[in-house]
Amino acid sequence: MTQNFHIALIPGDGIGQEVTPAALDVLDVVCKKHDLNFTYDEFDWSCERYLREGSMMPADGIDRLRDHDAIFLGAVGRPEVPDHLSLWGLLIPIRRRFHQYVNLRPIKVFDGVESPLRGAVPGEVDFIVVRENVEGEYSEIGGRHNLGLPEEMAVQEAVFTRGGITRIVDYAFELAAHRKGRLTSATKSNGIVHTMPFWDEIVRERAVEFPGVRWNQEHIDALCAKIVLHPGRFDVIVGSNLFGDILSDLAAAVAGSIGIAPAGNINPSREFPSMFEPVHGSAPDIAGRGIANPLGAIWAAAMMLEHLGLPAAASDITDAMAAVLAKTDLRTPDLGGTATTAEFTAKLVEYLR
Ligand code: NAI
Ligand code: MG
Repeated sequence: MTQNFHIALIPGDGIGQEVTPAALDVLDVVCKKHDLNFTYDEFDWSCERYLREGSMMPADGIDRLRDHDAIFLGAVGRPEVPDHLSLWGLLIPIRRRFHQYVNLRPIKVFDGVESPLRGAVPGEVDFIVVRENVEGEYSEIGGRHNLGLPEEMAVQEAVFTRGGITRIVDYAFELAAHRKGRLTSATKSNGIVHTMPFWDEIVRERAVEFPGVRWNQEHIDALCAKIVLHPGRFDVIVGSNLFGDILSDLAAAVAGSIGIAPAGNINPSREFPSMFEPVHGSAPDIAGRGIANPLGAIWAAAMMLEHLGLPAAASDITDAMAAVLAKTDLRTPDLGGTATTAEFTAKLVEYLR
């Protein structure tokens, strides 16, 4: 029996417009194979819309997304629009209003992709960053004082709640229990003396509930060094909003290109839709040339299928990704090749068929 899904599509700006169609091409093939019927509602919410109409999305934007099974986003950002306006005008409201408090960012070094690190062996590097996605350092609390004067100052408050830390830490422990059973908590309780010791305390408390998971904590600076030196040692890494953000870009670079990395903004209760997107931004430096790596968006589509309860369809995509990378030398320029987005996507589609 055909299963129906209703997806909200926000291609956004720059290469978001180029990698989203690639992900849809792949989804089309997978849907046919698995007897799935995806219907898409496309929204033109973007910096382009901001420049034209003065806002990233309409006032009732959140309500218009609410009844979808999932949201798929390309990327937003244009040089003419300050990045904090595009982020706070679209992505952050969606994450917060839909309680997408988990940001999942898997990292793998694929066979056939050269990591910039000598120590990153394909098959060995396979970990996932679990980033807190709705509180922490990314807060609107604070302000500027004495604007334009020599004594000008800015105060930015971070917000950590017991409930917010507990649920993200529990999610990470649970995930580790179903993977290799190892969890690393990113902290900085030597320098940040209120929020980070609070975070550490809750990690220690919750660990008791997950006796099968070996865990430790690392200061964020030392952790960055260890990821570079021994990326194969990690399984699940949990971090605050800021630490998780930084770690996942670092990890994506370890994997060979930020163009490969996907992200899921997950509402675990499923009360609201979750949102799937590549980790990368709109890449204005290469936008319009048709050379963006579509793998981040395609892998994000696989994460969406997994979340929708379609693991066989999801692993079809990740298997095809691995096969094309291992068995062909077709690559987009970020991975040292000369293929266009369309050529690479066509090859992947061929493997899927
Ligand atoms: P970026 O991720 O757009 O680009 C960083 C570098 O990686 C660039 O040299 C770019 O060419 C390259 N790159 C990124 N994705 C690629 C892909 N798929 N294939 C090949 N190369 C790729 O980050 P940047 O330059 O810091 O930000 C550009 C704009 O994107 C900004 O306006 C920023 O705010 C926005 N942005 C949006 C995000 C989102 O929508 N979720 C996330 C990150 C940034
Ligand atoms: Mg980031």
